[in-house]
Amino acid sequence: MNRIFSGIQPTGNLHLGNYLGAIRNWVSLQGDYECIFCMVDLHAITVWQDPAELRRCTREVTAGLLAAGIDPKKNVVFNQSTVPAHAQLAWVFNCVARMGWLNRMTQFKEKAGKNKENASVGLFAYPDLMAADILAYKATHVPVGEDQKQHLELTRDIAQKFNNDYGVEFFPITEPLILGEATRVMSLRDGAKKMSKSDASDYARINMTDDADAIAQKLRKAKTDPEPLPETVDGLEGRPEAANLIGIYAALSDKTKAQVLAEVGGKPFSDFKKDLTELAVSVLTPINGEMARLMADPGSVDAVLREGAERAAAIAEPILKDVYEIVGFLKP
Ligand code: TYM
Repeated sequence: MNRIFSGIQPTGNLHLGNYLGAIRNWVSLQGDYECIFCMVDLHAITVWQDPAELRRCTREVTAGLLAAGIDPKKNVVFNQSTVPAHAQLAWVFNCVARMGWLNRMTQFKEKAGKNKENASVGLFAYPDLMAADILAYKATHVPVGEDQKQHLELTRDIAQKFNNDYGVEFFPITEPLILGEATRVMSLRDGAKKMSKSDASDYARINMTDDADAIAQKLRKAKTDPEPLPETVDGLEGRPEAANLIGIYAALSDKTKAQVLAEVGGKPFSDFKKDLTELAVSVLTPINGEMARLMADPGSVDAVLREGAERAAAIAEPILKDVYEIVGFLKP
């Protein structure tokens, strides 16, 4: 059986990278797989979160998923902390994963920065919780952006080691699904930097809550180079800003980069930016409008999360019970 699990942190701004690297793919996968989508609030507090803002963001990110087209009847949509199996299985995995494995995680190094000694223990153990998210449902496929690849490799290592250590074939070896033409959307201000919610400049990203004017202004200011656009994908080599904007256009229009370049190759950036703005506004503003409508009715969002939590727990609890049995915990 194929089952998808994926998660998103309810922190800061939901942006175009989240949408193109993850959410848009989730929307297209929902017809073919059983899908579980999770707002990972336990992961969020690995760095400081203001409690009121965490609650607001959890609703807003949920609204973003729904507005983008995730159907909460067909899929399970919930927030992580409401299903205790995540934290419970994460503890078991803390005892399976090795310090050396976690020490190699580039995201920890990036997020902890120079002051590693002052990072939370949760930030270090973050990938174990992520493995628990996925394996509490025995998910077979995980659609993510490219930046999560290393964490998914660790999930596979944990599943393998658990199976080997206990002599069982219990956990699946999960496959990442890194799909589309924008698996790593870069900052609009610097083609070498990932688009991220923590970038100090709001001009670096397009937020899912940006209106048409903000989208137009940010794209107008987006960094480019002086050459016209190339006609082939090879011509994007060494032109990170051009590659990024073409990738964004391709993903938003469900085309390949080659198809897009066949249409726009030879154009100056100024013309292409107008096309891109029109496209981005046409895709993003309906989502943005629906998000605002949902945020005005938080009760409906909470109801989705509540129902999702029940359905998620019904899947995860029996799996956790089996794990406790395998590990040798005496039942009460
Ligand atoms: P998070 O919240 O940082 O991002 C959510 C999803 O968006 C993708 N993404 C991007 N894709 C392309 N370009 C970008 N610039 C960009 N920025 C973010 C991410 O790859 C991700 O798919 N650790 C995860 C959350 C998580 C999770 C899980 C994911 C927790 N448990 C289990 C999958 C399975 C994270 O921080 O994602």
